[in-house]
Amino acid sequence: MRESEVSAESECPVSSYNEWDPLEEVIVGIVDGAHFPPWHVSVGAPLSPEQRAVFRDSAGKPFPADAIAAARDELDELVDILEGEGVKVRRPEPRDHSRSYGAPGWSSTGLYDAMPRDLLLIVGTDMIEAPMAWRSRSYSASAYRPLLKEYFRQGARWSSPPKPELPDELYVADWTDQPDGEPFRSVITEFEPTFDAADFIRCGRDIFAQRSHVTNAMGIEWVRRHLGEEYRIHELRLADDHPMHIDASLMPLAPGKLLIHPDRVPDVPEIFKDWEVRTAPKPVIPDGHPLYMTSKWINMNVLMIDEERMVVEAQDVPMRRLAESWGMTAIPCPFRNFNSFGGSFHCATTDIRRRGSLRSYF
Ligand code: ARG
Repeated sequence: MRESEVSAESECPVSSYNEWDPLEEVIVGIVDGAHFPPWHVSVGAPLSPEQRAVFRDSAGKPFPADAIAAARDELDELVDILEGEGVKVRRPEPRDHSRSYGAPGWSSTGLYDAMPRDLLLIVGTDMIEAPMAWRSRSYSASAYRPLLKEYFRQGARWSSPPKPELPDELYVADWTDQPDGEPFRSVITEFEPTFDAADFIRCGRDIFAQRSHVTNAMGIEWVRRHLGEEYRIHELRLADDHPMHIDASLMPLAPGKLLIHPDRVPDVPEIFKDWEVRTAPKPVIPDGHPLYMTSKWINMNVLMIDEERMVVEAQDVPMRRLAESWGMTAIPCPFRNFNSFGGSFHCATTDIRRRGSLRSYF
């Protein structure tokens, strides 16, 4: 068979339509070389006031070496656990995030390659590279290019939206938080399409998306037109004051099972009316624990190996109980040090292959 004919789902190395079909291959991120990005209004917007102060003071510096080492160990343990469950794991190439790069009008250094979920939107056999709005993440795809090329050679589709230029016009220079109770005010404009892959969550033919400080309406529209009539892209308005990534607000765990943040989803979208909806238990992460760029609700950022097996933070007893009371098996993995970098199991991974096909669950 010629290479160009290797496109049947069953043979394609890349195939994943939802968050719960049996996981066969996954990319797990790396924290090595993680740096705070140069300070920019877009970097501060999704953060809390305390986090902004840290990012301002540490701009351009590496994350603390001991934090990186502890998170690296946890990632390695996650890899062992996934492999033990029969999943093939791939890792990106370490890169030097202190190197500067740029485009007309701006320059930046990098962040990290810890969260493949933020960059790669896998829809079926299509690997979509997100056009990220943070200048510090505009070369994020480089870490994954060796893998993307390998998958492409083996028959996967490989898509990239128009490369964003990220000029000053994309950002609201004098952006400030919206006053309490007022509608969300994004730090990005509609200058050009941008999105992070993690502002999308997949349920077969239905994909849910949110506008955020990194995803604009044009970005969502690009995905909608690109995927075409086989998919329905639903834009949700969630009650997240600092939105960046939907996967600590709304997590479909299995057909008919939706986990939600207790405050960010005041009205469960009508489409989920036949699903059982449960609220994430209160996070157990202690106050003193550093969380550089996420809220404690990262506890709900779990990874489903299939409809029954859920990877859960080892110390998160309430989430383990929730899994068990919902007929699932909780697989504990220590991940609190990784959480400091802004994500948990869902963010730290991106599915490459789940056994299953394109279906409708509503
Ligand atoms: N913005 C979310 C919160 O603060 C965290 C989302 C992390 N997700 C990710 N894919 N990096 O609760």
